[in-house]
Amino acid sequence: MKNRLRILLMSAVFAAIVSVSFISGDPSVAQTKTPNLPADFDKAAALAELREMIKGKEQEPAEKVFRNIQTLKGVPAGRVLGIMDFGYSRSLGVDCTHCHIPDKWESDEKRPKGVTREMVAMVGKINNDLLKSVKGLASEKPTVNCTTCHRGEVKPATNMQAPKS
Ligand code: HEC
Ligand code: HEC
Repeated sequence: MKNRLRILLMSAVFAAIVSVSFISGDPSVAQTKTPNLPADFDKAAALAELREMIKGKEQEPAEKVFRNIQTLKGVPAGRVLGIMDFGYSRSLGVDCTHCHIPDKWESDEKRPKGVTREMVAMVGKINNDLLKSVKGLASEKPTVNCTTCHRGEVKPATNMQAPKS
């Protein structure tokens, strides 16, 4: 009888702690996790550190400033970071860590980094070759980019989404 009472009491205390932390928004208990966005990675800090690292060399070609540039050769080093943030991360709805191990930016260990190089080649082919031969378009220079397909998702949709109710 005594034991049962103790267990009852303990679970009541536990429930109280959990609900208090939940209401107060204690991050150790009520953590909201966004997929692909690890809580311990600070993108702004990483970008600031990289900007500091390339200071004074922003206009030099990327391949002279960074260590493993294959597809962005000739692009000013300063622009590479913008492409990483706006071009790649945001259009796929991911953080740098989807393609990189932080502080090992030159490493090719992560599969999506390799896929990205192929995607860049594919986008080039669509823009420079395939789209150019489509007749009757409204734009003079019709273009696609990562956002055209990905729209903030790793896997582009192939169907219209059901209307939100
Ligand atoms: C969707 C994949 C993807 C995402 C997301 C991404 N990168 Fe990259 N990153 C690449 C690829 C691919 C290269 C290599 C480009 C090349 O070959 O020219 C690269 C190269 C780099 C390099 C050059 C490394 C070197 O020394 O060669 C840095 C620095 C870098 N990324 C930083 C970042 C940062 C910071 C973020 C987040 C804001 C980020 N990347 C997000 C794919 C990605
Ligand atoms: C014409 C449409 C299209 C464009 C434009 C496009 N992608 Fe993709 N991308 C896809 C499709 C389709 C997949 C395959 C998704 C799947 O796994 O089924 C994909 C997959 C990927 C993946 C693999 C994701 C993962 O983690 O498995 C990466 C990374 C990627 N794309 C990056 C890019 C980047 C960066 C750009 C811009 C340079 C880009 N894509 C432009 C259609 C596109």
